[in-house]
Amino acid sequence: MGISVHWSWLAALSCLLCMAGEVQCNCTETNMAMAGGDYKLTNKLERGSILVYHCPEGYYPYPHLARVCQPNGRWNPSPKRFSPQRCRLVECPDPNVMENGNVIPPQEKYFVGNETTYDCYSGYTLRGSTTRQCLPNGKWSGSTPICSRDSGDNCPDPGIPAGASRTGNIFGIDDTVKYTCNGNLFLVGSSERVCQENGQWTGKEPACYYKHTYDTSLEVSEAFGSAIKDSLTTLESVDDTQEGRKIRISKNGTLNIYIAVDISASIEEKHFKNARDAVLKLITKISSFSVTPNYEIVFFSSDVYEVVNILDFLDGKASLISVMEKLSTFTIGEKNAGTDLNTVFKIFLDRMAFIKRRAGEEGFKEHRHVLIFFTDGAYNMGGSPLPTVERIKNMVYMNNTSDQQKQSREEYLDIYVFAIGTVIFDDDLHPLTVGKDGKHYFRMRDIENLQDTFDEIIDEEEVKGLCGLHKEYSPDKTNFRKMFPWVAFVIVQVTKNRCLGSLVTPRFILTAAHCFKFGDTPEHVTVELDDGDGRVKRVKTFMLHPKYNISAKVDQGVKEFYDFDVALIQLEEDVKISAEARPICIPCTQETSNALKLVGDSTCKQQEEHLLKDQIERLNFLTRKRETVGLKDVHAKLGDNRDECIKHALTAKGITTKDERVAVTDNFLCTGGLSPQRDHIACTGDSGGAVFKNYELRTIQVALVSWGSKEMCIGGGVVESDRLSRDFHINLFKVIPFLKSILGNDLNEYAPLTFLEN
Ligand SMILES: *[C@@H]1O[C@H](CO)[C@@H](O)[C@H](O)[C@H]1NC(C)=O
Ligand SMILES: *[C@@H]1O[C@H](CO)[C@@H](O)[C@H](O)[C@H]1NC(C)=O
Ligand SMILES: *[C@@H]1O[C@H](CO)[C@@H](O)[C@H](O)[C@H]1NC(C)=O
Ligand SMILES: *[C@@H]1O[C@H](CO)[C@@H](O)[C@H](O)[C@H]1NC(C)=O
Ligand SMILES: *[C@@H]1O[C@H](CO)[C@@H](O)[C@H](O)[C@H]1NC(C)=O
Ligand SMILES: *[C@@H]1O[C@H](CO)[C@@H](O)[C@H](O)[C@H]1NC(C)=O
Repeated sequence: MGISVHWSWLAALSCLLCMAGEVQCNCTETNMAMAGGDYKLTNKLERGSILVYHCPEGYYPYPHLARVCQPNGRWNPSPKRFSPQRCRLVECPDPNVMENGNVIPPQEKYFVGNETTYDCYSGYTLRGSTTRQCLPNGKWSGSTPICSRDSGDNCPDPGIPAGASRTGNIFGIDDTVKYTCNGNLFLVGSSERVCQENGQWTGKEPACYYKHTYDTSLEVSEAFGSAIKDSLTTLESVDDTQEGRKIRISKNGTLNIYIAVDISASIEEKHFKNARDAVLKLITKISSFSVTPNYEIVFFSSDVYEVVNILDFLDGKASLISVMEKLSTFTIGEKNAGTDLNTVFKIFLDRMAFIKRRAGEEGFKEHRHVLIFFTDGAYNMGGSPLPTVERIKNMVYMNNTSDQQKQSREEYLDIYVFAIGTVIFDDDLHPLTVGKDGKHYFRMRDIENLQDTFDEIIDEEEVKGLCGLHKEYSPDKTNFRKMFPWVAFVIVQVTKNRCLGSLVTPRFILTAAHCFKFGDTPEHVTVELDDGDGRVKRVKTFMLHPKYNISAKVDQGVKEFYDFDVALIQLEEDVKISAEARPICIPCTQETSNALKLVGDSTCKQQEEHLLKDQIERLNFLTRKRETVGLKDVHAKLGDNRDECIKHALTAKGITTKDERVAVTDNFLCTGGLSPQRDHIACTGDSGGAVFKNYELRTIQVALVSWGSKEMCIGGGVVESDRLSRDFHINLFKVIPFLKSILGNDLNEYAPLTFLEN
């Protein structure tokens, strides 16, 4: 009894001391359990630790998502007996805000799994989804249903997203609509949209989020991918109204990308590595586009850890490779408590001011700036970054607040916020986003999947300029199209001749001339290339190289002469460009110079030096392997090594000349044999396929498979060379006039490939 009294007296005393801030108390786990879910602690039961609740999919923790351990040993917010912590069913915002139609079934609340259907009053037509489902992330599937009738307004009815209210019911030029979210929902996206002369609303449709609403990683990759795409392409489509067609113009200027990652205590520890890997993935992806941005990359808590300084790029002291190296080895020791977001914005503003001094007023106009933040917004030092954001805008908009100027400068500044965490300070973060079009605010529960999210962003890319863009791997082995989106199968029906080909523009397939026999017509030719719009493509015509003549050297002891063994197949319709169907890059085009990051006026010769520079150049080609393809590894023997390689042509059937150069002209590359390594060898069905080389995420075709000294396999398969066997491939650098005469000819509605002047 006595001891017990003593105890409670001591406990009471230490609690008083805690409250006075003199002694640090730990929190306790008593009564913290949650029915239907569990929790994790970020730093045991010590001060500052965060207790994060987790519920199964389709549920969210209620009434709180997390609690923080305070220095006095109490949780904030403190648990309340009358409102026990539990997992609640996810709710979706009220869809009954739709005008001029019915929502079925009418309910007061809609929960995960609930389905709704929509119909319009007579005289109105429905745009958007007719049925929608409430998803586990707190959003409705599909798109906002809108019942409208033709009112002769300039812009279409922009609708009302679930959970929102709209003011503004006239949709003429310069009319404005404004949105707010009802109840405890908050708005993400454009709260105000203006009807423009071109019949489009400014901005993007807003959405109403609950605190438990998240973007899925698919949504993030689609929305961020399409938003950032504009910044990352050097070509831009513009309507040439005089000619009534789309033309492409070159965007001028420099792209500066500033990335900041919050690593303060409120972000869980394991997230540091995830964030670092995600940033690495992001810049790798960006490197596959045709621009070469400058980077500033920082991690921050109350201190700012600068990984890459953008000024090093201006001085030519940094490169993509050095950034990747620095980033992948970057670690952080003991980090300080506290988060100072404003200081990061100030540093970015500083860097811009420096760039402006360097580039001068006029030069700075050509600089575009993209700021990307990963944070939960729980800053507790430095104050709100909003005034700094205003100063950044002011700088990029050139001190000019006129609407006209603002509009013309808006595309030069984007601020994206990835709001990540269990507890997100949306009210502080959402106003920091800046940008004309596309979604700029992303709400994610954690960054575990962020790397995969960024890996997917190029999937949505439909930019025609990006030849050869591909994925490095495909988790699904039978889906080879993402790795080799340009591959095509060519079948000539009469002879049952099977060849490979490569998509070189949305309309043309490059293959070997010998796939066709005299008398073959376009109806006999089938091209298989699955672009999602069907596997088999109709052929309009095909063209062989005018100098191709298989019997040209019969007299000279070469029964079958394969010089100029190239052909182009023209399809009836363009292939639909996607991650699974996209042209390969071919030599001597501007597109390939972009892929190789050759700046300024580049030449064909520069490209050749890049691609076929060594004495031994490692290359690849494909082979058909049942329903998929196999990759063959070969080494082109160039320079001093070539003579030894091509002399094996004399062992081929039908060759009686003593001079191998009669059969193998300078137009061929030679691979095969065992030295320096055992190469793979071509099979008959491999003919016409691309011999290629990868440069980062881009693929460039340097040759095409033509013939070999020895038939070692029929129909396909990954087969190794023997000592004597050699393959000969048409070097594309030698047949440029033919390619240019067809592919560089501006006969379609948009310009095809741009061949270099010299
Ligand atoms: C709080 O817990 C830590 C271990 O997690 C312990 O080292 C420390 O002494 C505790 N502090 C108090 C005041 O009990
Ligand atoms: C909506 O979902 C809740 C929770 O799962 C369920 O109880 C209710 O029956 C659903 N309503 C309809 C109409 O399906
Ligand atoms: C791009 O820069 C060039 C030369 O600096 C200039 O002639 C051209 O008009 C610029 N184009 C655009 C779209 O600003
Ligand atoms: C822009 O405004 C700031 C502050 O208002 C001023 O210091 C600066 O000189 C101005 N710059 C130009 C180019 O007018
Ligand atoms: C601001 O920009 C507009 C449009 O570009 C221009 O007409 C105006 O002269 C500018 N004002 C100042 C103060 O620079
Ligand atoms: C191919 O070459 C042979 C031998 O030089 C010649 O007789 C024949 O006319 C050529 N064929 C074509 C289509 O040019």
